[in-house]
Amino acid sequence: MDPQRPSRTAEGAAALRVWHTLLDDPPHVFDDSIVRSMLSGPTRLVLHSPPSMVRNAIRAREALQPELAALRGQVVLRSRFAEDALDAALAAGCEQVVILAAGLDTTAQRRPELARSGAIFEVDHPATQAWKRERLPPDLGEAVRFVAMDFEREALDTRLAEAGLRSDVPMFVNWLGCTYYLEPAAVTATFEALGRIAAPGSEIVLDHWLPEPGLNWRPRLLLAGVRFAVALQREPLRCLLTAGELAQHAAAGGWQVAEQLDAKAQRERWLAGRSDTLSLPDFAHVTRLVRA
Ligand SMILES: C[S@@+](CC[C@H](N)C(=O)[O-])C[C@H]1O[C@@H](n2cnc3c(N)ncnc32)[C@H](O)[C@@H]1O
Repeated sequence: MDPQRPSRTAEGAAALRVWHTLLDDPPHVFDDSIVRSMLSGPTRLVLHSPPSMVRNAIRAREALQPELAALRGQVVLRSRFAEDALDAALAAGCEQVVILAAGLDTTAQRRPELARSGAIFEVDHPATQAWKRERLPPDLGEAVRFVAMDFEREALDTRLAEAGLRSDVPMFVNWLGCTYYLEPAAVTATFEALGRIAAPGSEIVLDHWLPEPGLNWRPRLLLAGVRFAVALQREPLRCLLTAGELAQHAAAGGWQVAEQLDAKAQRERWLAGRSDTLSLPDFAHVTRLVRA
């Protein structure tokens, strides 16, 4: 990442979540309309509910070329996966929530009571976090515990402990939209750091993308397009992992796979029976890990 500049992919992912609520049919897989207020002016300007003629034209296009719908789908399905897991963790009594590579994540806005209780920690690259903090309502800006750091350079466990994270009670970690932008060594280091500070029963939910070999031409083409686009934004893809490789990286930190959904399983769970064109690329996997 460019250390001086907020992450463009963070705003892109947030815009796709809003676009899902404007273009796709209810029920929405993940409703993050609230993030709209944090988007930059130009992005907000183009995000409007399309008139039905335009909607139909977009859908006709997406039926032939599902790539844009697939990018939107991978952003909202990963968030839905994390949200369901967070609901379950909170119901089971979890008291600490860590949002890694938070970008414009809105957990704090959607769960203000949790944020006000001091339970939410947000970790992100300094430039992205500073940019997000300017956009947060002041009371939440005070309540969330922020950690500004670069995963490639600093020790996450030390920084989280300094911010008040307890290692004697379980934590829930949301780590979405990030593994593919890090060097493989930084992915392992993150699992190791979380492993050092995690009480038994802690969980991590994350997504990862499969490498090109093994994918058919359509997701391969999409991945090539994404690779090009994010490199232009100075956030190049650095770490594509098979499910087995992800499990190995995680095991280095003492994390075990509790749930791993490939694209087919996610489509069956969240896209079956939908009347719109929302889809998901084959390379998008989501995983829930636990610390025994
Ligand atoms: C695509 S955004 C994902 C944001 C959010 N989690 C979501 O799902 O919308 C990628 C995030 O990873 C963060 N990131 C990328 N490389 C990083 C690094 N080396 N250290 C800290 N954060 C990093 C960016 O700042 C950005 O917030």
